[in-house]
Amino acid sequence: MSVLGDVQTTYRSFAVYAAGSSPCFEEWALGVVDDHEVQRWLARLPEPKRQPNLVFAAARWHGLAAPAPYDHLRATLLGDAGRIRATSMERATQTNEVGRLAVLVPAFASVPGDGPVGLLDVGASAGLCLYPDRWSYSWSTGRGAVTVGPAAPSLHAGVSGPAPLSEALPEVVWRGGIDLNPLDAADADTCRWLLTLVWPEHDDRRVRLEEALDIARHEPPGLRRGDLLQELPGLAAEALAALPHGGRLLVFSSAVIAYLDVPGRERYAALMRDLLTDPRLHWVSNERPRALPAVTATGPPPPPGRYVLAVDGHAVAHTHQHGRDLHWWD
Ligand SMILES: C[S@@+](CC[C@H](N)C(=O)[O-])C[C@H]1O[C@@H](n2cnc3c(N)ncnc32)[C@H](O)[C@@H]1O
Repeated sequence: MSVLGDVQTTYRSFAVYAAGSSPCFEEWALGVVDDHEVQRWLARLPEPKRQPNLVFAAARWHGLAAPAPYDHLRATLLGDAGRIRATSMERATQTNEVGRLAVLVPAFASVPGDGPVGLLDVGASAGLCLYPDRWSYSWSTGRGAVTVGPAAPSLHAGVSGPAPLSEALPEVVWRGGIDLNPLDAADADTCRWLLTLVWPEHDDRRVRLEEALDIARHEPPGLRRGDLLQELPGLAAEALAALPHGGRLLVFSSAVIAYLDVPGRERYAALMRDLLTDPRLHWVSNERPRALPAVTATGPPPPPGRYVLAVDGHAVAHTHQHGRDLHWWD
């Protein structure tokens, strides 16, 4: 396929992904699909830097207001004197969505055993998902609301199916993470970039992100810089050694594994299966269907745009990409 064809395909599928969630980003992506001049502008970026989330955030970083009509994006990109291009080259999409905890916590609760846990977040970004015990949860179910935890701050998700909605929050005795580029919640520029990555209409996510950054600033997570394939075995061994008797280590990832190339994804799945031979260790993944195809295949086919939530390599639910709801099956 031609480079412009690739750009069109990427933006067309992003429009599907954004549909019903961000009318602005859907309109912008569809605008690009029909706009050869903007496609040529994008095609001059290296392939990984053409992704809509990154380019839209870079344009907003340099002052483009959103929501706004597509013409504003078009004029901003075509009039760029190099700053938007430079920001796209320098930065990465490291959206850290703490709302995903509302779907991860039921998966944590479904892990066999009880007692204290260690949490190892693979592809942690700023590590904001390492504090499930600092939030309260309100899950709407067909049988009414289920709540757990103190009053604030709070996360909400709609739930269908028999998800294990625990009555208690996990007791976390160890937290750590790995990222190619760990982000520091105490750094103002980093916080501004993370806030810019939140989609335009998602004011609730921006509020939540501020709260999550505040939590991480007060208790900075131990984040290791490096490639997850290299760093995971060593960090998992450290975490296991630090656990009290009876403790379990939950190694989890959300919205990360699709960043690896296909051989890397296969190596990650094999590495996790190796690590699972230790009965104290469990694996929770909340990933796009194509990230871990063998895991995805253990459940029903996911509807478009849904993530696959899995425990120890077995799919248990389909989830909203930002943790707004989950469907757990019997
Ligand atoms: C979209 S963010 C998701 C962050 C977080 N897990 C969440 O759900 O909010 C993906 C993160 O994975 C990290 N990442 C991608 N490839 C990686 C690799 N090979 N090793 C370590 N981290 C990686 C990126 O740097 C980024 O911070």
